[in-house]
Amino acid sequence: MNRVYIKTYGCQMNERDSDAVAALLRARGYSFVDSEEDADVILINTCSVRDLSEQKALGKMGRLQKLKKKNPRLVLGIMGCMAQSRGSGLLDKLPELDLVVGTQKLHRVPEHLAEILKTKDGLGPLPAKLVDISEEADSQNAIKDHQESGSVTSFVSIQQGCDMNCAFCIVPHVRGDERSRPMEEILEEIRGLAVSGSREITLLGQIVTSYGRGLENFKDKKSPFVQLLERLEEIEGIKRVRFTSPHPRGFKEDLVGCFGRLEKLCESVHLPMQSGSDRILRLMNRPYGRDRYYDIVQSLRARVPDIYLSTDIIVGFPGETDEDFEATRELFDRVGYDMAFIFKYSKRSGTPAAQMKDQVSDEVKEMRNQALLDILHKSSLRRGESLLDTTQEVLVEGWARKGGKLMGRNRGGRKVFFKGDGGLIGQLVNVKIDKATVAVLEGNVV
Ligand code: SAH
Ligand code: F3S
Repeated sequence: MNRVYIKTYGCQMNERDSDAVAALLRARGYSFVDSEEDADVILINTCSVRDLSEQKALGKMGRLQKLKKKNPRLVLGIMGCMAQSRGSGLLDKLPELDLVVGTQKLHRVPEHLAEILKTKDGLGPLPAKLVDISEEADSQNAIKDHQESGSVTSFVSIQQGCDMNCAFCIVPHVRGDERSRPMEEILEEIRGLAVSGSREITLLGQIVTSYGRGLENFKDKKSPFVQLLERLEEIEGIKRVRFTSPHPRGFKEDLVGCFGRLEKLCESVHLPMQSGSDRILRLMNRPYGRDRYYDIVQSLRARVPDIYLSTDIIVGFPGETDEDFEATRELFDRVGYDMAFIFKYSKRSGTPAAQMKDQVSDEVKEMRNQALLDILHKSSLRRGESLLDTTQEVLVEGWARKGGKLMGRNRGGRKVFFKGDGGLIGQLVNVKIDKATVAVLEGNVV
């Protein structure tokens, strides 16, 4: 039997894609191992959003090539975003690489592997190297049955690609045009997940709030995405709904009005700001300014005063001055996030920003990065401490890695650790919080 090891870099979409590939392979009799040394097939699912993520994956595959000395039958594959952006160029860099599979071709991994293994075993025609990165119509609908049954939390891809063309972003190049899955198919998948034990659903897409564009219609001034959120309320067994990654432009009245109204929709929003400077936002080709952004924050807080907010920020975008950064710092501080992903701008070739003048030095990026991290640390701790002595509704996900405790999350997505019985897994329990750090909570079941 062929043994597989998959290593995943990048976002939740990639995690979900890797799970999907794993499920396809399992269905064809492949087994999975925990160590690269024991594998006959090693696949790396890659991210291209920043240079650092690409370098990590390249370094990893570079080292893995040595394993072929011991096991010449070993198959090495790169899939996902870097496979898409670099294609056969990867074969020049990594001479031992056998397989390159792009973002719209993941469902073809099993047949490609079968072909390569046949060649390796002397049963098929040469060449044994395969590159498949073409576009495929309807690939967003190709992989559905991917979840391990029994998982309390599940990720469901509803939309892929992005048509926004933010000046810094490689995603439209590697993930292609926006494509959505039909609503009825999504609902059917989620009903199935509920039956097999899922209690929380996270809807995934590169610009998830644009779900349904060109496929489903507005009804009663409600976007297809909002209609989908409403339909999820009806699905028995599902207790919580989240989504990522949205775009601020999706937060019109119809979506804002869902928070605090839809029972299953968690009071937690990821609202990518990128920059707090109007000038930089324009250069980034982001279709909002700092005032509009803060209006959205306030409209959400008007509905749910203690709503959990997180964001993405890029520091050191080309031309970002001290004054621009100060505008970002000020807005970042004023909003007060529970969580934030702060990135140092990374030049991606082929994007408009890569051509821009006044690239910012690493030193300045580092300082700005640190300044925001300090603010985040404080606001995040403030939230944690505000939860001391409160009772939180926790969805129990499973055992913590260490310490014999159970792990779950509150509605805001904060991890909560507590003592309890394994029978609680998959259930909602009330936990009184007696300890809070920046990132996690501890307490006891009440
Ligand atoms: N909507 C997408 C965004 C993808 S990129 C999603 O699916 O999550 C995630 C974040 O990475 C962006 O919001 C941005 O803050 C950051 N990012 C994208 N391109 C970048 C670049 N060239 N340099 C630094 N950070 C970048
Ligand atoms: Fe990238 Fe902007 Fe789309 S960040 S994924 S181009 S909304």
